Amino acid sequence: MKQYFISTFGCQMNVYDSGRLAGLLAAKGWSPAGGNDKADFIFLNTCSIREKAAQKVISRLKGLKPLKKRNPDLIIGVGGCLAEQEGREFLGKVPFLSLITGPGRLAEIPEILETLDPRGPAVILTGQTPDSESAPEPCPAGGSAASALSSFITVMEGCDNFCAYCVVPYLRGREKSRPLKDILSEAESLISGGCREITLLGQNVNSYAPDGLDSKKGPAFVRLLKELDSYKELWRLRFTTSHPKDFPPELIGLFGDLRTLAPHLHLPLQSGSDRILKAMGRRYDRAGYLKTVTALRRAEPDLALSTDIIVGFPGEDERDLEMTLEMLAQVRFDSIYSFMYSDRPQTKAALMPGKVAETEKARRLGQVQNLQKAVTLEINESYAGRTVEVLVAGPGREKGQMSGRTGSLKTVNFPGSPDLCGRLVPVRIESGWTASLLGQLVS
Ligand code: SAH
Ligand code: SF4
Ligand code: F3S
Repeated sequence: MKQYFISTFGCQMNVYDSGRLAGLLAAKGWSPAGGNDKADFIFLNTCSIREKAAQKVISRLKGLKPLKKRNPDLIIGVGGCLAEQEGREFLGKVPFLSLITGPGRLAEIPEILETLDPRGPAVILTGQTPDSESAPEPCPAGGSAASALSSFITVMEGCDNFCAYCVVPYLRGREKSRPLKDILSEAESLISGGCREITLLGQNVNSYAPDGLDSKKGPAFVRLLKELDSYKELWRLRFTTSHPKDFPPELIGLFGDLRTLAPHLHLPLQSGSDRILKAMGRRYDRAGYLKTVTALRRAEPDLALSTDIIVGFPGEDERDLEMTLEMLAQVRFDSIYSFMYSDRPQTKAALMPGKVAETEKARRLGQVQNLQKAVTLEINESYAGRTVEVLVAGPGREKGQMSGRTGSLKTVNFPGSPDLCGRLVPVRIESGWTASLLGQLVS
């Protein structure tokens, strides 16, 4: 039996795509290898969101050269966003690649492998599929995600927003939504396989708009969430990512209302400065963002929020940074993902004046992260004494411990036995730390 090994970089959509590919390969008789050295086909699902992400992929690929030298019949392929960006150029950096496929061509891989000559020229498939308007195909039954307690489902892909710094719209193409019935049948098959927590994925899930769904009846995304909420065996529903400019009251109202909708939301702010937000092309301002947060917290007072912050966008100065820090202090996010701005090919920001030096970006990042660390710790410490529901996912950090997540997405470790796995249990929190909470099972 031929064996494959997939490494995944980048966002959750790549994780989902890697699972889809694993399912498609399994259907063609492939089995997973334990590592690169055992595989007949090595696939790297790549990311290009920042320069560093791209460099990481390239260096990982270069490390595979001895394997290919030893075994010329080994097939090494790349997919995902960096593959889409580089196309044929990838061979200039990594000449021993046999396969280069963009995210829109993933489903074609198993068939290509049947005829691909590992000693011959590389097969290069980028650009959207010929029927580029059609949405990504569902994960085949028996795919790697089929039995997981928590699973992803991509509901839409691509982005029409073209934020000035971001390369994603050029690599994932325009927004495409999957038909409602496809998503529901994928959810049904996951749930019947034991899945209890689903996270809906899309570059901007709130723009979910499949063909043939009447938009006069309210936002299609709201309808999708309500449909999923009706599955009794589903315990938790999450979604990511939402653009703050697209948060209709109908969607806000679902928090605290839908049984399954978990009290956590990732709402990327990027900057607290109106001037920078405008230059980024984000189409909301501080006041608009705060208004959405206030409405969300009114709907669900327990809502945990996370966000993305970019420091050192072209033209950002000390006052802009102050405003970002101020927003962090005001909103009090549970956690943030913060990044140094990085020039990306084709983007508007790459051509903007006022680039900030790397050392200065690093200093600003440090300031942002220090402030956030203190806020996160305060919030997590405030959990002490509360009893929370934990979806137990596996063994904890220390021996004899189990670990899982709260609805608010906090990791909780507690003494417990492996038979708790897959159950929703009450845990009384004793202490909170920056990355996790510690507690005792309530019997
Ligand atoms: N669709 C999502 C996520 C996009 S990528 C959204 O709209 O928010 C994830 C995060 O990477 C972004 O939110 C942004 O904070 C960061 N990012 C994107 N491009 C970047 C760049 N060129 N430099 C630094 N960070 C970037
Ligand atoms: Fe990138 Fe902006 Fe689209 Fe998010 S909304 S994927 S940051 S262009
Ligand atoms: Fe990276 Fe593409 Fe996701 S650039 S973050 S893998 S959409």
